[in-house]
Amino acid sequence: MRVLNNIKEVRDQVKKWKYEGFTVGFVPTMGYLHEGHKSLIERAFSENDKVVVSIFVNPMQFGPKEDLSSYPRDLDADSILCGNAGADIIFHPEDKEMYFEDFSTYVDINGLTEELCGKSRPIHFRGVCTVVSKLFNIVPANRAYFGEKDAQQLAVIKRMVRDLNFDIEIIGCPIIREEDGVAKSSRNTYLSESERKAATILSGSLEKAKDILNMGERNCEVIRKVIIDNIAKEKLAKIDYVQVVDGLSMKVVEKVNKSILIAIAVNIGKTRLIDNFTFEV
Ligand code: PAF
Repeated sequence: MRVLNNIKEVRDQVKKWKYEGFTVGFVPTMGYLHEGHKSLIERAFSENDKVVVSIFVNPMQFGPKEDLSSYPRDLDADSILCGNAGADIIFHPEDKEMYFEDFSTYVDINGLTEELCGKSRPIHFRGVCTVVSKLFNIVPANRAYFGEKDAQQLAVIKRMVRDLNFDIEIIGCPIIREEDGVAKSSRNTYLSESERKAATILSGSLEKAKDILNMGERNCEVIRKVIIDNIAKEKLAKIDYVQVVDGLSMKVVEKVNKSILIAIAVNIGKTRLIDNFTFEV
């Protein structure tokens, strides 16, 4: 496995592979890889001849008060994980390789980026869409793999690919969880011992919502209240949002009469965690 920092090198290699008849799977990441990322790389490996993983902490998707400077990084550990999971190349560019000083072109999506995470992170999805567009141009893969933990990001990227006719298939992969139910996330490393325990309140509350849905509850306000009341029991938790939405448009739903996404964002101390599940009727 090779680590490449240069756009031309990685693009030329991927083009060569495709010319030779190989299929290419692509896993865009911000590094500090965990089992969740590993599952994406393994899936890409099982469905393609070659696999590229990008590791780039994209400054454009962080707000001024967010954790860009403290975002965890460990290229050595990431390289081992990528190699074991079947990656052929890590694309690891520097900021200046990705963004010219006078960079001034953005990819922005209306509507579904304004809900959920978009409310408290107003510039986030513009940064994600811009960098993912650039990455798709740099790594012209057949398929790209994203985690369903970032359900809104996945919906936004699928919409962008559809609207802008990118020639790539977007594949969503299931959330990978710790034994106690906490969704794997690079940001879990910020949590102190007591915060890590408190973080189980996210998946625990979603389980309660699943239970009442399985018992037949269809009123979304009732479902939201069950989650909100349960999170309120945890002193270290502060809700950003608890929403029941249409999984494609991210619009709030009142009655469960089609497939819905239940998505939550909760601050545990200073760390903002997200989690979700989809319920099919
Ligand atoms: O999900 C992430 O890690 C990032 O948002 C992504 C898709 C790699 C873009 O920077």
